[in-house]
Amino acid sequence: MNYNYHQDLQIVRVNTMPDRSYYIPCAPGKATSSKENNESVLLLNGSWQFAYYPSFSEASLEGNSDSVLPVPSNWQMYGFDKHQYVNFDYPIPYNPPFVPKENPCGIYKRTFSVELTEEIRFYLNFEGVDSCHYIFLNGAFVGYSQVSHSTAEYDVTPFLRDGENEIAVAVLKWCDGTYLEAQDKFRMSGIFRDVYLLKRPQHHVRHYVVQTSIQQECAAISFKFDDFGQALNKSIKILDAAGRLVAEGETCDDTLCLTIDHPVLWNAEQPYLYQMVLDTTEERIVDTIGIRTISAKGNVLLVNGQSIKLKGVNRHDSYPDTGYVASLEQMVQDLQLMKQHNINAIRTSHYPNAPEFYHLCDEYGFYVIDEGDMETHGAWSSHGEREDDWYALMHHDPRFETAVVDRVQRLVTRDINRPCVLIWSLGNESGFGVNTLAAIDVMRNLDSTRLLHYESKLLVPEDQGKFSFDILDVESYMYPDLETAEKLAQECKKPLILCEFAHAMGNGPGSLTEYYDLFYRYSGFAGGFVWEWCDHAIVQHDASGNPQYLYGGDFGEVLHDGNFCVDGLVYPDRTPHTGLLELKNCARPVHVTRQGNTFWAENKLDFADLSDALTIVWTLEQSGTKIAEGSIADFNLAPHTKAQLPLSLPQIDGSRVYLKFEYVQMAEHPLIPAGTSLGFDQFDLSTEKSSVILPVSHHAVTARQTETGWLVCGEAFSYHFNTTLGTFDSCVVDGKECFAHPAEFDIYRAPTDNDMIEAGIASYSKRSWKSLRLDAAYAYTYETSVEQSNTCVTIICPLSLVADRAAPFCTIKAVYKVYGSGAVEVKLHVSVRKDLAYLPRFGMRYFLTEDFQNCTYFGYGPHESYADKHAGCYKSKFHATVPELFENYIYPQENGSHYDTEECTLSNAATAIKVCSTTPFSFCASEYTREELAAKNHHFELQKSGCTVLNIDYAMTGVGSGSCGPYTLEQYRMTEKEFVFDYAFLPQKKS
Ligand code: GAL
Ligand code: MG
Repeated sequence: MNYNYHQDLQIVRVNTMPDRSYYIPCAPGKATSSKENNESVLLLNGSWQFAYYPSFSEASLEGNSDSVLPVPSNWQMYGFDKHQYVNFDYPIPYNPPFVPKENPCGIYKRTFSVELTEEIRFYLNFEGVDSCHYIFLNGAFVGYSQVSHSTAEYDVTPFLRDGENEIAVAVLKWCDGTYLEAQDKFRMSGIFRDVYLLKRPQHHVRHYVVQTSIQQECAAISFKFDDFGQALNKSIKILDAAGRLVAEGETCDDTLCLTIDHPVLWNAEQPYLYQMVLDTTEERIVDTIGIRTISAKGNVLLVNGQSIKLKGVNRHDSYPDTGYVASLEQMVQDLQLMKQHNINAIRTSHYPNAPEFYHLCDEYGFYVIDEGDMETHGAWSSHGEREDDWYALMHHDPRFETAVVDRVQRLVTRDINRPCVLIWSLGNESGFGVNTLAAIDVMRNLDSTRLLHYESKLLVPEDQGKFSFDILDVESYMYPDLETAEKLAQECKKPLILCEFAHAMGNGPGSLTEYYDLFYRYSGFAGGFVWEWCDHAIVQHDASGNPQYLYGGDFGEVLHDGNFCVDGLVYPDRTPHTGLLELKNCARPVHVTRQGNTFWAENKLDFADLSDALTIVWTLEQSGTKIAEGSIADFNLAPHTKAQLPLSLPQIDGSRVYLKFEYVQMAEHPLIPAGTSLGFDQFDLSTEKSSVILPVSHHAVTARQTETGWLVCGEAFSYHFNTTLGTFDSCVVDGKECFAHPAEFDIYRAPTDNDMIEAGIASYSKRSWKSLRLDAAYAYTYETSVEQSNTCVTIICPLSLVADRAAPFCTIKAVYKVYGSGAVEVKLHVSVRKDLAYLPRFGMRYFLTEDFQNCTYFGYGPHESYADKHAGCYKSKFHATVPELFENYIYPQENGSHYDTEECTLSNAATAIKVCSTTPFSFCASEYTREELAAKNHHFELQKSGCTVLNIDYAMTGVGSGSCGPYTLEQYRMTEKEFVFDYAFLPQKKS
């Protein structure tokens, strides 16, 4: 085919209608805004004939289209072309406006029937096509458009014939718009959103804008209309949520203002919507209206005059089986999960979502930063080094002005009537230049009621100092460390937003609590958006139907960014990651604090009184057993206020006494079933420290030397100590061997995604774990001595942990006391090499036989917990099987540890091995070795070790957010240099 609009920077669309606000009209007297069951809509979704061509020049409308492809879909999900995941790099040469000659093209065709009448005009709508499309009706060229995530509308009336018609669409993988769509995602193509024909009267309301303002007890609703054909008489009714008429008016003009007394305002917690019914003689438009204001007072972000916090996430359209296609059900599922995890804000990173998405956010209550379909990050790496100087190449270049402006214009015009949209965002990571200014200008002219956001403030060298960023309404940053974030909060003149923070890749993010503390500490801190909502991956299934997730590099791509797309709060199938549970509790609606013997609740909601939203349920436990419980319902507590909780607790003496307050959804909510816990606080009320009580035994214990060490025997056990390894290599209880391999000292972990740089896997560093050889440590023992009494054998074994090439990492004096009961007291006096900044972990690992499947522990659970990631966990006694303790990350890594454990027991049918200490430790029990986790790149490649690997760690370094943000904070790293680790190891025959 011989069209070339897709390589012309000045032509971004041909024959499209001017942009308009999104709505779906219906016939007079009807009351729907849905595309389904609506006689004004002919939905063209469904099966289309499809022909795939490796290049546009080969493509032909006449060619045979023997394949069938569903619309909406991405053709890569159906075996055409192949997947490629790149973060910011351009997958094509940086040579705008030109794109490769081998430009894959899909020709889509189908027929449909219409009945032509004088009175009706037909508008063809495409809501999302990547990257651009040429449209033909009955063989005639209709038009062209680009901007993948925006609507293109064509008046096709002159192209139609009565009866059957054939539509053909040529979709290209690349166009000059590709240079403005370098978002971090799989690069997929095709018609991925709805396609439909609207049947409309010759004269109709083409575009309307609804704006609300509030004065005292009254709301003004102002309408602006753009009539098509001729000025129309328009009648408007506004109904409240109960269907009562609250305002009405009529006009032939292009404006109208109605008022509502005592309006109920919209906010994310109480998303009250009115219904608008706009009638012209031949058509009706039904829409919803939310009345709210958004403003900034000084640096405080206000909705309806009340300060709010954005507890946000960044969301991409990404599904493992449907690619970019998000059905209504999929969107609702995302929103439901978000609601249930206390998320109240979404940044539509980095493009407008499907129009319905905003209606759902209106309805269910979410604040939205609506972002333009724009990112030119690839310019950064287009000249070799990743140089900030190249960032703004396109925003600086006047040739791109048309395209840049077009993108924000489409964004604002389409979504202008959605109350959920608080903030417009120009786009992401495109740098700053003359075109940015032009775009801002256009956005301001289209809408002055929202705030304006843009994070990317890098300039080309000749523009340095030329622009002021004062034109933006919020101060926005990505991934600052805590210190920087706090400084920004202290100095911000405008509301401060972290448009991205807490990179949720793999096991993490750590230190979410600290960021949330800052949000609440500073009134100018409006909150932040975790990067990101979901893992991007493509699913395939093994022979038994188990899902296997693929990421960058799995499709033979030359350029790719590996698993960097697998960085969400939920797995691709929307199973929550433990990071989401962490976020949930950081964003909990109530904070309870303790002052002496009293407990104070603070309502962290911005609008709802506690008594309308939540019941506080408390439980008092000792050693994980419930002692008392109660609930506090109807507790009046206005937003942002604090009051003492009425509570009378029984006095419990002793250790492991914990009081937990849970915040439970009271009434049934469309997305949250009544009774759902939305978070908790927990307090340690113990009056004593836990102590380790070793079983008393008067039985004798003896030791005798063997070729490799010492055999220590008691009545029902025999343990063998290996003097070369410095640990026990056999543990026989009641005649049964419990060890599959000798125990070991352990200072390494399977690197998490957040460790990749520190570990030396993602880049080279002289001080990386790899270059230090921490992963290769083993024990070098010195002279072992053994002391014996009647009831106790003491083994003293000095040793070092060494690796080839490396100086010893630490020296350890290991003292093991074995008692007649079979109890072993382990005491390690450790001295770590001073120049090692920190260790991934320090502890010992045991390889129990694989039948040790059951685990009971008293520590932070029920899911994995780390020094800087346990806000979503609480202390109690938990039971789980070893497979249940495993977190199956798509990219295998350290997982399933439990922080602050006082006791854990692993058992099989015959024996229970308990480990306990007066100094809480971290433990992990897994079917996989850390070597296996480190060696494999996909979850489905993992091989079980054939034993139960039990790590008992004095400390485990936290997880941080280092894959794209700050590494684990100093205080959460294993930095100690001199310490004693003591614990008891108690194998016992089960009775
Ligand atoms: C940011 C970018 C996101 C994503 C993230 C890393 O710089 O805005 O789109 O790439 O980094 O996951
Ligand atoms: Mg980017």
